[in-house]
Amino acid sequence: MNKKMSLFVLFVICLATAFFVRERGVAQIFQDFKLATSSAQGEDPQVTAAKEAQAQAQSGGASAQATAGLQGTTTQSQTKPATDAANSSAKAPGSTQPATAGNQQTAPGTNTSTTGATKPTASTPTTTTKQPAGTPTPATAKPATTTPTAKILPATNLTGTNVLVNKTYVLPSTYVPKDLVEPKVPFSFSGKSQKKMMRKEAATALEQLFAHAKKSGINIAAVSGYRSYQTQATIFNYNVKTQGREQANKFSAIPGQSEHQTGLAMDISAASIKYGLEQSFGETAEGKWLAQNAVTFGFIMRYPKGKEHITGYSYEPWHFRYVGVEMAKNITDKGLTLEEYLQETQGNIPQQG
Ligand code: DAL
Ligand code: ZN
Repeated sequence: MNKKMSLFVLFVICLATAFFVRERGVAQIFQDFKLATSSAQGEDPQVTAAKEAQAQAQSGGASAQATAGLQGTTTQSQTKPATDAANSSAKAPGSTQPATAGNQQTAPGTNTSTTGATKPTASTPTTTTKQPAGTPTPATAKPATTTPTAKILPATNLTGTNVLVNKTYVLPSTYVPKDLVEPKVPFSFSGKSQKKMMRKEAATALEQLFAHAKKSGINIAAVSGYRSYQTQATIFNYNVKTQGREQANKFSAIPGQSEHQTGLAMDISAASIKYGLEQSFGETAEGKWLAQNAVTFGFIMRYPKGKEHITGYSYEPWHFRYVGVEMAKNITDKGLTLEEYLQETQGNIPQQG
């Protein structure tokens, strides 16, 4: 190749590079490089995506970006998250406007004719979780924060009843428990639904808890159990859309980060508060009874008041997590959260707040 030809080729290469940078943008090229590097290192795509989602949470990113990662892809600026239509009537703390919060029970497309106050339709959010108007935050409680924690790691021991799923330890989008069954307990709604399911051991324990409640004159109803990654995505995105990402992150899990996907959690409420998932449930006779008696059957109230900075979520007196009788007793006797208990027994569990 003569000198003229070489210069011409160089000129064409420079032109193409300039065009590429202009079209793609420097920031996006940098992002592509980051993603390529993390996959080259063999990072779990769910972990990569969860990191992206948390980065969005930190920067107050738009929900549109959240939806981009709905299916768990890791290309571009993905967040994992997603959405849902909730069936809880909720008021954000300090707000007078109803807002979705908490554990949105109704997945779009599910048949949820309620026997209680909520009237779900396939496409409309139904129940609403009232965040506690009037529930004072204890002086000792640190608010749940939306600041992303430094670490995002794959959850381990997925099928153990002691599995830890939170803002640090995330489940793969493909994880579905193998032994889901429908516990024979009263539900707040009728018809078949995924959210009636729990893992077998947890379902049996729930049946015993409900039988004991009935004997004690306590009328409670199960509201929301197993939720797939996709259902959680729908719920989370719905909450982001209606309340903003910062608020949503205080009560609603990014998909992959919800205990409901483990099949070990059940939201429980009562007719006395129209099956709402709201903090005032903790003040009802049913809520108080559950707080005292769930432990006997292997359940813990997973997001207690005053531990928001550890669990990463606001107080949820309705969310019960099965961990087995022995662990539930230890956790309850010591007044710990699951994070604190595992920190004590296994070490190295980052706080979620
Ligand atoms: N409300 C709990 C944190 C969840 O969305 O799983
Ligand atoms: Zn819940």
